[in-house]
Amino acid sequence: MCPTNSSRRWLSSAAATVPPYGISEVQRYASRYGSDDMVYMSMGEPDFDTPLHIREAACKAINAGKTHYTLDVGIPELRQAISEKLLKENGVNYPASNIVVVSGSQEGISVLAKALLDPGDEVIMGNPYYPAYFQNVVLQGAKPVLVPLDRSNGYRMTGDAVAKALTPRTKLIVIVSPNNPTGGVQTPDDLQAISEIAETQDLIVVSDEIYEHIVYDGVTHTSISSLRGMKERTIVQNGFSKAYSMTGWRIGYMALPDELISKVEEIHRATVICPPSISQYAALAALKGPQQAVSEMTAEFSRRRNFVVRRLNEIPGVEIEPPKGAFYVFPDFSEYEEDDRKLALDLIREAHVVTVHGSAFGPAGKGHLRISFAASQEKLSEGLDRLEAHLKSIRPPA
Ligand SMILES: Cc1ncc(COP(=O)(O)O)c(C=O)c1O
Repeated sequence: MCPTNSSRRWLSSAAATVPPYGISEVQRYASRYGSDDMVYMSMGEPDFDTPLHIREAACKAINAGKTHYTLDVGIPELRQAISEKLLKENGVNYPASNIVVVSGSQEGISVLAKALLDPGDEVIMGNPYYPAYFQNVVLQGAKPVLVPLDRSNGYRMTGDAVAKALTPRTKLIVIVSPNNPTGGVQTPDDLQAISEIAETQDLIVVSDEIYEHIVYDGVTHTSISSLRGMKERTIVQNGFSKAYSMTGWRIGYMALPDELISKVEEIHRATVICPPSISQYAALAALKGPQQAVSEMTAEFSRRRNFVVRRLNEIPGVEIEPPKGAFYVFPDFSEYEEDDRKLALDLIREAHVVTVHGSAFGPAGKGHLRISFAASQEKLSEGLDRLEAHLKSIRPPA
């Protein structure tokens, strides 16, 4: 028998073509240099502790024996609290029965791709994109269709760009606002234009709102689901990781139109049975308890963002758009090095600074680095000093 390439033999064709997760690549590379003085500006998670009242609610749940499977879609009190939150904060009325609590919104992305996509379906998403959307679309044999998010217009996904990307195979539009990795925030006008396209073309919209509370300079977040006629065709993806600094608790939720709920529930059950019981009680406390910690964390991100933007603007030749939301900046360093992956790996090895190469977020990230300011001001200051020194060593000022 002829020898077989083992990956071709065992892997599905979708698995064989799924691109690697660039964010993990830099983390793995940095771990090789395991030095105590490595400065991480790569993390997609707040560096704060989960607020105390949330941790206490989790301890209470453990001591009360709430350590078993729950209903697959989540405990009723949490679904009800999420439904009330969506009405109060986002102005949209999804009943508790239309909420599925998931093991982090990343699980939601995977479940939705399985529930919605057939091979050949096209999914419109921004370029750059959050990689899990790209990967899960590819895993279904569907096709990501990338629309440009440009620095010149604040990285917004415009109705015009979406209209240009439509084909008869278009099924779904993914909106991530505030955006990872660009920090762009959609305006109500952008959302209105996209909603009109979705209605006339009969498309579904996935609206990832996980950074909704982290916005700056008076910018406000609008959920496309709250626009007229959109609740029936929008899936809101949200979670507790970013607003409440709960990344390790693995807890998020989806709000779904009636038509999708029962099959999405089946796929979610087949994937995880139910989300972690203890984390559900913690999430309930997050929604029902004081919200002061959320605004305090955002205020701190705002101070750091101003600092990082100012420092980057001082570096000659670096192009940057101040983020309006989330906790990332996405500067263009191509004046120094066009190969962003090389730059990110060189920075780790030579300067002990970890960032993420822009091309990990799609072709529009070429020449860019994603810098997270979910790190202390002290670390950011040290990291940016080292970054600047490294850039000068590549191309000394003229
Ligand atoms: C845009 C976006 N969506 C979803 C997620 C996944 O979040 P979770 O921790 O809820 O799985 C992330 C995490 O970085 C993200 O940036």
